[in-house]
Amino acid sequence: MRLNHFSMTGAAIGRIEAAEWLDNPAFQIANALALPQRLAGTPGRRIRNALHGTWYGHPVHPMLVTVPIGTWTLALGLDTLGALGAKHGREYDRAADLAVQAGAAGAVAAAAAGLMDWQQTHGRSRRVGLAHALVNSTALGLQLTSIALRRRGRRREGRIASAAAWSVMFIGAYLGGHLVYRRRQGVDQADHSVEPRSFAPVLPAAELREGQPRKVEVWDALERAHIPVVLVRQRGRTFAMGARCSHMGGPLDGGWLLKGGLVCPWHGSRYDLETGQPLDGPSTCPQPLYDVRVRNGVIEIKRQQEPGAAAVTPEDIEHASQVEQSTTADTPLGRKADEVLFEHHELLRSMFRRIEDMAPDDPQRRDLMRTLASELEIHEHVEDAIFYPAVRPVSEDVPVAYAEHQQLADLLAATLKLPTSSPDFDEYLRALHKAVDHHASSEEHSMFIEAQRLGDRRLRELGHELETMLEEQRTSRFQCAFRELKISLLAQAGREA
Ligand code: FES
Repeated sequence: MRLNHFSMTGAAIGRIEAAEWLDNPAFQIANALALPQRLAGTPGRRIRNALHGTWYGHPVHPMLVTVPIGTWTLALGLDTLGALGAKHGREYDRAADLAVQAGAAGAVAAAAAGLMDWQQTHGRSRRVGLAHALVNSTALGLQLTSIALRRRGRRREGRIASAAAWSVMFIGAYLGGHLVYRRRQGVDQADHSVEPRSFAPVLPAAELREGQPRKVEVWDALERAHIPVVLVRQRGRTFAMGARCSHMGGPLDGGWLLKGGLVCPWHGSRYDLETGQPLDGPSTCPQPLYDVRVRNGVIEIKRQQEPGAAAVTPEDIEHASQVEQSTTADTPLGRKADEVLFEHHELLRSMFRRIEDMAPDDPQRRDLMRTLASELEIHEHVEDAIFYPAVRPVSEDVPVAYAEHQQLADLLAATLKLPTSSPDFDEYLRALHKAVDHHASSEEHSMFIEAQRLGDRRLRELGHELETMLEEQRTSRFQCAFRELKISLLAQAGREA
């Protein structure tokens, strides 16, 4: 079996994650850390919140680790200059000593915040977290040794200890990255569905008891999921927030009310009912909130949209239809935009089929591939410039469609770099064909249907704009020359690679 460095590091981390023997020492350490915090009462809770980052809405640990990483890297550079006998070597040595000390202070602060976060981890994350802490403690120990050596005038050994610490630190950073990006530690785990965008009935008001959280669900068609929401009645007022705790996804409907907040049953994060902000950690992220009203004895909720959420609201659709009504009567009417684009999709599909059917050594294959590349570029351009901005108010697919265009452009560039007679070309062409077909089909089955909300007249006006731009792109000498140059450069790059 061939092992590359990805599978080797994956296997090493897998071993740590499977090391159940770490659970007992981890449990003992977590218990030992928790005891003084419990004894400290309210001041202890405040310190915990500060170290988690609850007070400012972001985990503090990743922010603090930048101090040792930056200063110890600086020290390594200064030590290297000093060891090479650079001019002003004494100043470099003094600056390196200071950088090592500042990094050690930062590492202690980062360790305190990291330990606080680690206590609430479980299973595999807790084992990797323990390894992460041990590795980073080793780096800190080496730097403390280096400081002692430097003070005794043993600079050479001090530099070696610092260099070793710098290398060890990166193993620790790798494990830390694994915890965040693979195990999602410290990442907001609440549901951020935009549904329901208008008031939707969820529960008869009589069924919600004072002080007893109650879970309801709303359907998100885009996510194809039921989103849990927790309803709470306190002093006669009803509140609603996402039921999945932003810390690690705990069920807030299983929690309880304490001092005006809803407490998560898993690790005790307490959320303000009015604002959704965490009042106590370990959570650092606010819960998604919902507006609440009671109509005809039924509780209705509506999602409070977050800034920048790409949600299509009834107001957007109303605005889009107003645009349609304000269109002047003398607008030239021809085919609708979706009809123009569908026809171009079909053209692209037929070109793919023709190239795929050609023999690899057919000299026309290369020319047809270039024509296809040109038509693809034109297609993306007209959609980006005219169609997507116009349908954005009525379709949530637009950001995805833009991203897919980037993917298609990358794949097209990679395909153009290959000789059309090579087996690799066939593989890339099939991938590109599939990607284009997926993109076109998504538009035809979703975006084109949503675009009908713009109204017949507006779609015909857009169709006219699209046809004009398609024509212009195909006939403009400048545009043709520019595309030809781009395609030639890509093909040339492939030959030189
Ligand atoms: S899941 Fe940890 S506090 Fe809610």
